[in-house]
Amino acid sequence: MELPASGHEPVLLSEILTWLDPRSGQTFVDCTLGRAGHALAIAQRLSPSGLLIGLDADPRNLQFAADRLKTTASQPPCRTRLFHANFAELADVLEEVGLKQVDAIFADLGISTNQLFDEEYGLSFAAPMALDMRLDPRIRRSAAHLVNNLAEEELADVLYKLADERYSRRIARKIGEARRISPITTTDRLAALVREAVPVKFGPPQRIDPATRTFMALRIAVNQEVENLTGLLEEAPRFLTPGGRLAIVSFHSVEDRLVKQAFRSAEQTGLLTVLTPKPISPSSDEIAANPRSRSAKLRVAAKANGPKVRE
Ligand SMILES: C[S@@+](CC[C@H](N)C(=O)[O-])C[C@H]1O[C@@H](n2cnc3c(N)ncnc32)[C@H](O)[C@@H]1O
Repeated sequence: MELPASGHEPVLLSEILTWLDPRSGQTFVDCTLGRAGHALAIAQRLSPSGLLIGLDADPRNLQFAADRLKTTASQPPCRTRLFHANFAELADVLEEVGLKQVDAIFADLGISTNQLFDEEYGLSFAAPMALDMRLDPRIRRSAAHLVNNLAEEELADVLYKLADERYSRRIARKIGEARRISPITTTDRLAALVREAVPVKFGPPQRIDPATRTFMALRIAVNQEVENLTGLLEEAPRFLTPGGRLAIVSFHSVEDRLVKQAFRSAEQTGLLTVLTPKPISPSSDEIAANPRSRSAKLRVAAKANGPKVRE
């Protein structure tokens, strides 16, 4: 697959622009700047009188996005305030900017394509890399630490709960046996162990590598993705102006379930109105052009005008 010069193709871009409808002079938060694909398109519409507040947990992507936002246009397309921050820290960021409310909050979850293939991050089994997976250098425990130190039952729980891995126990047992011989420190060794642990199926070859789920679960655990998303979903609605929009793109069922449930319960308390009862998925054209978009799901909600009054 050919990568764009930015290292990442933004998913569902035109749908996101339609739903968020950025306008001149508004203030938007992009919680996951990445390579600034969405941010740049949003910034151009906010125009110089608008403000884009951008966050990324990864300082390297943050720097790339900052440079891209600065140099793509002859003048910055809008004012920007960019932060090396986790979106679970949104309240602190907005306090630093001195704003109580914004017109839209957007998050495009997970990792960017450049992060997947860059061995600095140790995320992929497509090539041998040191097993790490930390996006934010502030995180203490790497994937190698978890794989070599969690009890086998804890490891099986991580695989089962975060990636619905049905062979979680077998895989955890295999890892337990292997690490008694020597610590597991590389992505290729871990992937080989998972493939050995998973029973071979007869029939047509499998579309996805059996190691995919294990790697996804470990990435989620290392970067505390469930805790961070839960924090964002709890905090974000109170920072929206009336009618302001919250849009989240997720890539796996655990995340999408969290978004769906949080939106629903905020609707029940009168805080949000759900605008997408069913999530929006990429068109077949987008999936053909960018196969990594195939599991993307966009959900959008708007800040309601006030709490529901009981009859
Ligand atoms: C899918 S990419 C975003 C791509 C971006 N929308 C674009 O068009 O280039 C996700 C980005 O979010 C960052 N990230 C992941 N979890 C985060 C979190 N909890 N807080 C802040 N940034 C996070 C990653 O480092 C990565 O740069």
